[in-house]
Amino acid sequence: RTVYLNGQYVPETEAKVSVFDRGFLFADAVYEVVSVIDGKLIDFDGHVARLHRSMAELRMPQPPGREELLTMCRELAARNALTEGMIYFEVTRGNPGDRDFLFPSAELQPTIVGFTQNAPLVDRPQAESGVSVVTLPDRRWQMAHVKTTQLLYASLMKAEAKACGADDAWLVRDGFVTEGSSQNAHIVTKQGKLITHPLDSSILHGITQSAVLELARQGVVEVETRSFTVEEAKDAAEAMVTAASAFVLPVTRIDGVQLGDGTCGPITRKLRETYIEFAR
Ligand code: PDD
Repeated sequence: RTVYLNGQYVPETEAKVSVFDRGFLFADAVYEVVSVIDGKLIDFDGHVARLHRSMAELRMPQPPGREELLTMCRELAARNALTEGMIYFEVTRGNPGDRDFLFPSAELQPTIVGFTQNAPLVDRPQAESGVSVVTLPDRRWQMAHVKTTQLLYASLMKAEAKACGADDAWLVRDGFVTEGSSQNAHIVTKQGKLITHPLDSSILHGITQSAVLELARQGVVEVETRSFTVEEAKDAAEAMVTAASAFVLPVTRIDGVQLGDGTCGPITRKLRETYIEFAR
């Protein structure tokens, strides 16, 4: 693969980052994942805007501009013949040359990396069969709206979910589902309403969910923004996750409880189809 590092396109084996980079020592870094279908970047501007918001929250100076990031993504897709999959990019606070908790001078150049990942996004068996989740405690820091590379807890919960025989984890704080380990979580009640968590600091404000909810409101389903409990989720007609790497995927099992007939429900299917059509 050809990867991007600080303005250059290099073979992945030649891309070197210092051991003193704050991304490595402090997870002092933010990232984005942009999906690609037929070589087209999906919701690129939304991802750039969120990267800039994440950097502002962490007082990271020198955000890379939209044009620089767009050129990087287009070049990476072209050089790696990416037609369907994801582009990952990350900005760290940079390499101050030593380990020090205090933020370095604002003059320090950030480290910028990007790479591509091939993956089938449109045709996936899980779009029909759905995914199973187990609910696990949300012990992440309380700035989950900032998209940092501090992903150890998400990895730990995914491993825990796998060990339980499930595909993924839904995280729970005070009895309420916040979100998935790396996706936003939504349910459709038996009364036919889509329930989605409020956009506060306990969840990542998903770019995919924002587009999907917008489409949902245009006549697919009534949307209610409030948190929901684990019990409500298990009693729901349908459940789903949204993320750049998933688009919309049905959740058909929560803590071993099957939802509906155990396959993708009609509202989830409609939202997935509508979103893919809109994204193409
Ligand atoms: N994950 N919530 C969390 C905790 C996430 O990590 C993600 C994205 C989302 C969905 O956000 P979006 O729709 O903007 O992708 C929600 C990415 C895909 C990842 O870490 O791979």
